[in-house]
Amino acid sequence: MSVDCSSNYDLPAIHVSKQLLLRHAHWLMRKNRVADHSLSILLVDDDEISWLNKQYRKIPGPTNVLSFPLSESPFQELGDIVISVETAAREAVEKKVTLHTHLTWLVTHGLLHLLGHDHERSEDEAVAMWDLEQKLITELQNTGSNQMTQLAINVDHVATVRNARGITEPDPVTAASICELAGAAGIVVHLREDRRHINDRDVRILRETIKTRMNLEMGANKGIIEIALNLRPDMVTLVPEKRKELTTEGGLDVAGQKKKLAKTIAKMRKAGIPVSLFIDPESKQVQAAHDIGATYVELHTGRYCDATSENERTQEYKLIATSADEAYEMGLRVNAGHGLDYQTTARIAALYTIEELSIGHAIITRAVFVGLDQAVREMKKIVSEASMIV
Ligand code: PXP
Repeated sequence: MSVDCSSNYDLPAIHVSKQLLLRHAHWLMRKNRVADHSLSILLVDDDEISWLNKQYRKIPGPTNVLSFPLSESPFQELGDIVISVETAAREAVEKKVTLHTHLTWLVTHGLLHLLGHDHERSEDEAVAMWDLEQKLITELQNTGSNQMTQLAINVDHVATVRNARGITEPDPVTAASICELAGAAGIVVHLREDRRHINDRDVRILRETIKTRMNLEMGANKGIIEIALNLRPDMVTLVPEKRKELTTEGGLDVAGQKKKLAKTIAKMRKAGIPVSLFIDPESKQVQAAHDIGATYVELHTGRYCDATSENERTQEYKLIATSADEAYEMGLRVNAGHGLDYQTTARIAALYTIEELSIGHAIITRAVFVGLDQAVREMKKIVSEASMIV
Protein backbone atom coordinates (compact mmCIF):
# COMPACT_ATOMS: atom_id res chain seq x y z
CA MET A 1 0.00 0.00 0.00
CA SER A 2 1.24 3.46 -0.69
CA VAL A 3 -0.41 6.71 0.20
CA ASP A 4 1.11 9.98 -0.83
CA CYS A 5 0.11 13.27 0.76
CA SER A 6 1.40 16.50 -0.70
CA SER A 7 0.41 20.10 -0.27
CA ASN A 8 0.24 23.05 -2.58
CA TYR A 9 -0.88 26.03 -0.54
CA ASP A 10 0.66 28.89 1.31
CA LEU A 11 -1.51 29.48 4.38
CA PRO A 12 0.79 29.85 7.40
CA ALA A 13 -2.11 29.95 9.86
CA ILE A 14 -3.30 26.46 8.90
CA HIS A 15 -1.27 23.63 10.40
CA VAL A 16 -2.00 20.22 8.97
CA SER A 17 -0.43 17.00 10.17
CA LYS A 18 0.21 15.08 6.96
CA GLN A 19 1.43 12.24 9.14
CA LEU A 20 -1.97 11.98 10.72
CA LEU A 21 -3.83 12.08 7.40
CA LEU A 22 -1.54 9.40 6.01
CA ARG A 23 -2.15 7.17 8.99
CA HIS A 24 -5.88 7.64 8.79
CA ALA A 25 -5.84 7.01 5.04
CA HIS A 26 -3.87 3.78 5.57
CA TRP A 27 -6.36 2.63 8.17
CA LEU A 28 -9.32 3.47 5.92
CA MET A 29 -7.78 1.61 2.99
CA ARG A 30 -7.15 -1.49 5.10
CA LYS A 31 -10.69 -1.32 6.42
CA ASN A 32 -12.12 -1.06 2.90
CA ARG A 33 -9.96 -3.96 1.68
CA VAL A 34 -7.94 -1.89 -0.75
CA ALA A 35 -4.70 -2.06 1.20
CA ASP A 36 -2.90 -3.27 -1.90
CA HIS A 37 -3.75 -0.09 -3.83
CA SER A 38 -2.14 3.31 -3.89
CA LEU A 39 -3.75 6.67 -3.22
CA SER A 40 -2.74 10.27 -3.51
CA ILE A 41 -4.00 13.12 -1.29
CA LEU A 42 -3.37 16.67 -2.40
CA LEU A 43 -4.00 19.61 -0.06
CA VAL A 44 -4.69 22.88 -1.83
CA ASP A 45 -6.22 26.32 -1.25
CA ASP A 46 -9.59 27.66 -2.39
CA ASP A 47 -8.22 29.13 -5.62
CA GLU A 48 -6.88 25.83 -6.80
CA ILE A 49 -9.93 23.79 -5.86
CA SER A 50 -12.18 26.43 -7.50
CA TRP A 51 -10.24 25.99 -10.71
CA LEU A 52 -10.63 22.19 -10.55
CA ASN A 53 -14.31 22.50 -9.63
CA LYS A 54 -14.96 24.69 -12.66
CA GLN A 55 -12.84 22.61 -14.99
CA TYR A 56 -14.20 19.17 -14.10
CA ARG A 57 -17.66 19.79 -12.63
CA LYS A 58 -18.55 23.07 -14.32
CA ILE A 59 -19.35 24.48 -10.88
CA PRO A 60 -17.97 27.90 -9.94
CA GLY A 61 -16.39 28.54 -6.56
CA PRO A 62 -14.56 26.40 -4.02
CA THR A 63 -15.63 23.08 -2.54
CA ASN A 64 -14.18 21.00 0.28
CA VAL A 65 -13.12 17.79 -1.48
CA LEU A 66 -12.88 16.39 -5.01
CA SER A 67 -12.13 12.80 -5.95
CA PHE A 68 -10.53 11.76 -9.24
CA PRO A 69 -10.80 7.98 -9.62
CA LEU A 70 -8.32 6.03 -11.69
CA SER A 71 -10.52 2.98 -12.12
CA GLU A 72 -8.84 1.94 -15.37
CA SER A 73 -5.35 2.02 -13.88
CA PRO A 74 -3.43 -1.22 -14.37
CA PHE A 75 -1.31 -0.35 -11.33
CA GLN A 76 -3.97 -0.62 -8.63
CA GLU A 77 -4.11 3.12 -8.19
CA LEU A 78 -7.33 4.36 -6.61
CA GLY A 79 -6.79 7.95 -7.76
CA ASP A 80 -6.49 11.38 -6.19
CA ILE A 81 -8.32 13.09 -3.35
CA VAL A 82 -7.96 16.86 -3.51
CA ILE A 83 -8.90 18.80 -0.38
CA SER A 84 -9.08 22.54 0.11
CA VAL A 85 -7.66 23.16 3.57
CA GLU A 86 -9.10 26.67 3.43
CA THR A 87 -12.67 25.43 3.01
CA ALA A 88 -11.99 22.62 5.48
CA ALA A 89 -10.84 25.13 8.11
CA ARG A 90 -13.99 27.23 7.61
CA GLU A 91 -16.27 24.19 7.77
CA ALA A 92 -14.53 22.88 10.88
CA VAL A 93 -15.37 26.13 12.67
CA GLU A 94 -19.01 25.95 11.49
CA LYS A 95 -19.33 22.33 12.56
CA LYS A 96 -17.54 23.02 15.84
CA VAL A 97 -15.05 20.22 15.27
CA THR A 98 -11.28 20.37 15.02
CA LEU A 99 -9.65 20.86 11.64
CA HIS A 100 -8.15 17.38 11.76
CA THR A 101 -11.45 15.73 12.65
CA HIS A 102 -12.95 17.40 9.60
CA LEU A 103 -10.00 16.60 7.33
CA THR A 104 -10.30 12.95 8.32
CA TRP A 105 -13.96 13.05 7.40
CA LEU A 106 -13.09 14.60 4.02
CA VAL A 107 -10.49 11.90 3.35
CA THR A 108 -13.10 9.26 4.24
CA HIS A 109 -15.68 10.91 1.97
CA GLY A 110 -13.17 11.25 -0.86
CA LEU A 111 -12.05 7.66 -0.54
CA LEU A 112 -15.61 6.32 -0.65
CA HIS A 113 -16.12 8.24 -3.90
CA LEU A 114 -12.97 6.64 -5.30
CA LEU A 115 -14.41 3.27 -4.30
CA GLY A 116 -17.55 3.92 -6.35
CA HIS A 117 -20.00 5.34 -3.78
CA ASP A 118 -21.92 8.38 -4.95
CA HIS A 119 -24.37 10.37 -2.86
CA GLU A 120 -25.53 12.27 -5.93
CA ARG A 121 -26.95 9.23 -7.72
CA SER A 122 -29.97 8.65 -5.47
CA GLU A 123 -31.39 9.36 -2.05
CA ASP A 124 -30.81 5.75 -1.01
CA GLU A 125 -27.18 5.88 -2.03
CA ALA A 126 -26.73 9.14 -0.19
CA VAL A 127 -28.07 7.60 3.02
CA ALA A 128 -25.95 4.47 2.58
CA MET A 129 -22.81 6.52 1.97
CA TRP A 130 -23.49 8.75 4.96
CA ASP A 131 -24.05 5.69 7.19
CA LEU A 132 -20.85 4.08 6.02
CA GLU A 133 -18.87 7.28 6.62
CA GLN A 134 -20.24 7.56 10.14
CA LYS A 135 -19.45 3.94 10.87
CA LEU A 136 -15.88 4.22 9.60
CA ILE A 137 -15.17 7.44 11.44
CA THR A 138 -16.60 6.19 14.72
CA GLU A 139 -14.49 3.06 14.46
CA LEU A 140 -11.40 5.04 13.53
CA GLN A 141 -11.87 7.36 16.50
CA ASN A 142 -12.34 4.46 18.87
CA THR A 143 -9.25 2.78 17.57
CA GLY A 144 -7.24 5.90 18.33
CA SER A 145 -4.51 7.28 16.19
CA ASN A 146 -1.38 5.44 15.27
CA GLN A 147 1.00 8.30 15.65
CA MET A 148 3.62 6.88 17.97
CA THR A 149 3.50 8.75 21.22
CA GLN A 150 6.85 8.84 22.98
CA LEU A 151 7.60 7.94 26.59
CA ALA A 152 9.88 10.20 28.62
CA ILE A 153 10.72 9.09 32.14
CA ASN A 154 11.09 11.25 35.20
CA VAL A 155 13.77 9.83 37.53
CA ASP A 156 13.33 12.31 40.40
CA HIS A 157 12.02 9.59 42.70
CA VAL A 158 15.24 7.63 42.46
CA ALA A 159 17.01 10.70 43.83
CA THR A 160 14.37 11.00 46.57
CA VAL A 161 15.24 7.50 47.82
CA ARG A 162 18.96 8.28 47.65
CA ASN A 163 18.56 11.52 49.55
CA ALA A 164 16.50 9.81 52.26
CA ARG A 165 19.69 7.98 53.24
CA GLY A 166 22.02 10.85 52.49
CA ILE A 167 24.35 8.59 50.52
CA THR A 168 25.06 8.06 46.81
CA GLU A 169 22.72 5.15 46.03
CA PRO A 170 20.45 4.66 44.14
CA ASP A 171 21.88 6.96 41.52
CA PRO A 172 19.39 8.72 39.19
CA VAL A 173 22.14 8.76 36.56
CA THR A 174 22.23 4.96 36.49
CA ALA A 175 18.42 4.91 36.48
CA ALA A 176 18.36 7.20 33.45
CA SER A 177 20.68 4.86 31.55
CA ILE A 178 18.54 1.82 32.37
CA CYS A 179 15.41 3.72 31.24
CA GLU A 180 17.07 4.56 27.94
CA LEU A 181 18.24 0.98 27.41
CA ALA A 182 14.66 -0.18 28.01
CA GLY A 183 13.32 2.18 25.35
CA ALA A 184 12.62 5.57 26.93
CA ALA A 185 12.69 8.37 24.39
CA GLY A 186 13.77 10.96 26.93
CA ILE A 187 14.70 11.62 30.55
CA VAL A 188 13.01 14.26 32.69
CA VAL A 189 14.41 15.73 35.91
CA HIS A 190 13.09 18.53 38.06
CA LEU A 191 15.81 20.67 39.61
CA ARG A 192 13.95 22.24 42.50
CA GLU A 193 15.10 25.31 44.34
CA ASP A 194 15.34 23.27 47.56
CA ARG A 195 17.20 20.40 45.77
CA ARG A 196 15.01 17.92 47.61
CA HIS A 197 15.71 15.21 45.03
CA ILE A 198 17.73 16.05 41.90
CA ASN A 199 20.83 18.13 42.63
CA ASP A 200 23.39 20.08 40.65
CA ARG A 201 25.76 17.12 40.34
CA ASP A 202 22.94 14.98 38.90
CA VAL A 203 21.99 17.42 36.17
CA ARG A 204 25.63 17.99 35.25
CA ILE A 205 26.36 14.28 34.80
CA LEU A 206 23.00 13.58 33.20
CA ARG A 207 23.68 16.27 30.63
CA GLU A 208 26.80 14.37 29.66
CA THR A 209 25.36 10.87 29.76
CA ILE A 210 21.78 11.09 28.48
CA LYS A 211 21.73 9.66 24.97
CA THR A 212 18.13 10.51 24.15
CA ARG A 213 16.77 13.90 25.24
CA MET A 214 17.10 15.76 28.50
CA ASN A 215 14.03 17.68 29.61
CA LEU A 216 14.80 19.91 32.60
CA GLU A 217 11.74 20.79 34.66
CA MET A 218 12.16 24.01 36.58
CA GLY A 219 10.50 27.01 38.13
CA ALA A 220 11.04 30.29 36.29
CA ASN A 221 13.38 31.74 38.90
CA LYS A 222 16.69 33.51 38.44
CA GLY A 223 19.14 31.00 39.91
CA ILE A 224 17.67 28.00 38.10
CA ILE A 225 17.39 29.91 34.82
CA GLU A 226 21.12 30.57 34.99
CA ILE A 227 21.85 26.90 35.62
CA ALA A 228 19.65 25.90 32.68
CA LEU A 229 21.35 28.38 30.36
CA ASN A 230 24.75 26.91 31.28
CA LEU A 231 23.57 23.31 31.19
CA ARG A 232 21.74 23.57 27.86
CA PRO A 233 19.27 20.70 28.19
CA ASP A 234 17.41 19.65 25.05
CA MET A 235 14.35 21.43 26.38
CA VAL A 236 13.04 22.94 29.59
CA THR A 237 9.57 22.58 31.05
CA LEU A 238 8.51 25.50 33.20
CA VAL A 239 6.38 24.47 36.17
CA PRO A 240 4.97 26.33 39.15
CA GLU A 241 7.02 25.52 42.21
CA LYS A 242 6.00 25.81 45.82
CA ARG A 243 8.41 24.82 48.58
CA LYS A 244 5.75 23.10 50.69
CA GLU A 245 4.14 20.97 47.97
CA LEU A 246 4.87 17.24 47.81
CA THR A 247 4.84 17.32 44.01
CA THR A 248 3.87 19.86 41.34
CA GLU A 249 0.26 20.63 42.21
CA GLY A 250 -1.31 22.53 39.35
CA GLY A 251 -0.42 23.96 35.98
CA LEU A 252 1.20 27.33 35.44
CA ASP A 253 -1.07 30.33 35.29
CA VAL A 254 0.42 31.44 31.98
CA ALA A 255 -2.42 33.85 31.28
CA GLY A 256 -1.76 35.58 34.59
CA GLN A 257 2.01 35.95 34.26
CA LYS A 258 2.60 36.35 30.56
CA LYS A 259 5.29 39.00 30.93
CA LYS A 260 7.51 37.04 33.30
CA LEU A 261 7.20 33.79 31.36
CA ALA A 262 7.72 35.49 27.99
CA LYS A 263 11.01 36.87 29.33
CA THR A 264 12.19 33.40 30.37
CA ILE A 265 11.12 31.94 27.02
CA ALA A 266 13.05 34.67 25.21
CA LYS A 267 16.22 33.93 27.23
CA MET A 268 15.95 30.22 26.51
CA ARG A 269 15.20 30.82 22.86
CA LYS A 270 18.35 32.93 22.57
CA ALA A 271 20.29 29.96 23.92
CA GLY A 272 18.51 27.60 21.49
CA ILE A 273 16.54 25.81 24.23
CA PRO A 274 12.86 25.10 23.42
CA VAL A 275 10.43 25.80 26.24
CA SER A 276 7.42 23.80 27.31
CA LEU A 277 4.83 25.26 29.70
CA PHE A 278 3.10 22.88 32.11
CA ILE A 279 -0.53 23.96 32.07
CA ASP A 280 -3.96 22.76 33.06
CA PRO A 281 -6.05 21.72 30.06
CA GLU A 282 -7.84 25.07 29.59
CA SER A 283 -8.27 27.11 26.39
CA LYS A 284 -7.19 30.28 28.16
CA GLN A 285 -3.85 28.78 29.15
CA VAL A 286 -3.26 27.19 25.75
CA GLN A 287 -3.90 30.51 24.04
CA ALA A 288 -1.60 32.34 26.46
CA ALA A 289 1.19 29.78 25.91
CA HIS A 290 0.86 30.33 22.18
CA ASP A 291 0.79 34.11 22.57
CA ILE A 292 4.09 34.25 24.44
CA GLY A 293 5.95 31.97 22.05
CA ALA A 294 6.21 28.63 23.88
CA THR A 295 7.30 25.75 21.68
CA TYR A 296 5.43 23.11 23.68
CA VAL A 297 2.73 22.83 26.27
CA GLU A 298 2.63 19.93 28.69
CA LEU A 299 -0.98 19.26 29.62
CA HIS A 300 -1.51 18.41 33.28
CA THR A 301 -3.16 14.99 33.49
CA GLY A 302 -3.42 15.01 37.31
CA ARG A 303 -7.16 15.65 37.58
CA TYR A 304 -7.86 12.97 34.97
CA CYS A 305 -5.75 10.46 36.93
CA ASP A 306 -7.20 11.41 40.31
CA ALA A 307 -10.85 11.15 39.16
CA THR A 308 -12.90 8.95 41.45
CA SER A 309 -15.60 7.92 38.97
CA GLU A 310 -15.59 6.92 35.30
CA ASN A 311 -17.87 9.82 34.54
CA GLU A 312 -15.52 12.32 36.10
CA ARG A 313 -12.52 10.72 34.39
CA THR A 314 -14.23 10.97 31.01
CA GLN A 315 -14.98 14.65 31.61
CA GLU A 316 -11.34 15.31 32.51
CA TYR A 317 -10.18 13.28 29.51
CA LYS A 318 -12.33 15.41 27.21
CA LEU A 319 -10.73 18.58 28.56
CA ILE A 320 -7.28 17.15 27.80
CA ALA A 321 -8.29 15.98 24.31
CA THR A 322 -9.83 19.37 23.47
CA SER A 323 -6.87 21.36 24.79
CA ALA A 324 -4.48 19.09 22.92
CA ASP A 325 -6.44 19.71 19.70
CA GLU A 326 -6.47 23.45 20.26
CA ALA A 327 -2.75 23.60 21.01
CA TYR A 328 -1.87 21.35 18.09
CA GLU A 329 -3.83 23.43 15.65
CA MET A 330 -2.16 26.62 16.86
CA GLY A 331 1.15 25.03 15.96
CA LEU A 332 2.20 24.22 19.53
CA ARG A 333 3.79 20.85 20.20
CA VAL A 334 1.92 18.93 22.88
CA ASN A 335 3.17 16.77 25.73
CA ALA A 336 1.22 15.52 28.73
CA GLY A 337 1.92 14.13 32.14
CA HIS A 338 1.51 13.90 35.89
CA GLY A 339 -0.03 11.02 37.77
CA LEU A 340 -0.24 8.71 34.75
CA ASP A 341 -0.04 5.02 35.63
CA TYR A 342 -0.46 1.59 34.06
CA GLN A 343 -4.25 2.02 33.93
CA THR A 344 -4.66 5.65 32.93
CA THR A 345 -1.93 6.08 30.31
CA ALA A 346 -3.39 4.26 27.29
CA ARG A 347 -6.28 6.65 26.73
CA ILE A 348 -3.98 9.67 26.73
CA ALA A 349 -1.33 7.98 24.59
CA ALA A 350 -4.01 7.32 21.96
CA LEU A 351 -4.44 11.04 21.29
CA TYR A 352 -2.55 11.70 18.05
CA THR A 353 -2.04 15.32 19.03
CA ILE A 354 0.15 14.32 21.97
CA GLU A 355 3.78 13.80 21.18
CA GLU A 356 5.23 12.69 24.45
CA LEU A 357 4.18 11.56 27.91
CA SER A 358 6.24 12.37 30.98
CA ILE A 359 5.84 9.64 33.59
CA GLY A 360 7.75 9.12 36.83
CA HIS A 361 6.07 7.90 39.98
CA ALA A 362 4.17 4.93 38.54
CA ILE A 363 7.24 3.54 36.79
CA ILE A 364 9.64 3.98 39.67
CA THR A 365 7.22 2.45 42.18
CA ARG A 366 6.60 -0.57 39.93
CA ALA A 367 10.36 -0.88 39.50
CA VAL A 368 10.65 -1.62 43.22
CA PHE A 369 8.80 -4.88 42.59
CA VAL A 370 9.67 -5.89 39.04
CA GLY A 371 12.89 -4.00 38.30
CA LEU A 372 13.32 -0.76 36.38
CA ASP A 373 13.97 -2.36 33.01
CA GLN A 374 10.72 -4.33 33.10
CA ALA A 375 8.70 -1.43 34.51
CA VAL A 376 9.84 0.79 31.62
CA ARG A 377 9.20 -1.88 28.99
CA GLU A 378 5.67 -2.52 30.32
CA MET A 379 4.84 1.19 30.17
CA LYS A 380 6.43 1.57 26.75
CA LYS A 381 4.26 -1.29 25.46
CA ILE A 382 1.12 0.43 26.74
CA VAL A 383 2.10 3.72 25.11
CA SER A 384 3.10 2.15 21.78
CA GLU A 385 0.04 -0.06 21.49
CA ALA A 386 -2.34 2.75 22.39
CA SER A 387 -0.82 5.10 19.90
CA MET A 388 -0.95 2.71 16.96
CA ILE A 389 -3.87 1.96 14.72
CA VAL A 390 -4.25 -1.79 14.61
N1 PXP B 1 5.17 16.41 34.43
C1 PXP B 1 5.44 17.35 35.33
C2 PXP B 1 5.43 18.77 34.90
C3 PXP B 1 5.75 17.01 36.67
O1 PXP B 1 6.01 17.98 37.56
C4 PXP B 1 5.79 15.65 37.02
C5 PXP B 1 6.16 15.27 38.42
O2 PXP B 1 7.46 15.60 38.70
C6 PXP B 1 5.51 14.70 36.02
C7 PXP B 1 5.18 15.10 34.75
C8 PXP B 1 5.52 13.24 36.32
O3 PXP B 1 4.50 12.95 37.20
P1 PXP B 1 4.43 11.52 37.88
O4 PXP B 1 5.68 11.37 38.70
O5 PXP B 1 3.18 11.57 38.69
O6 PXP B 1 4.37 10.51 36.77
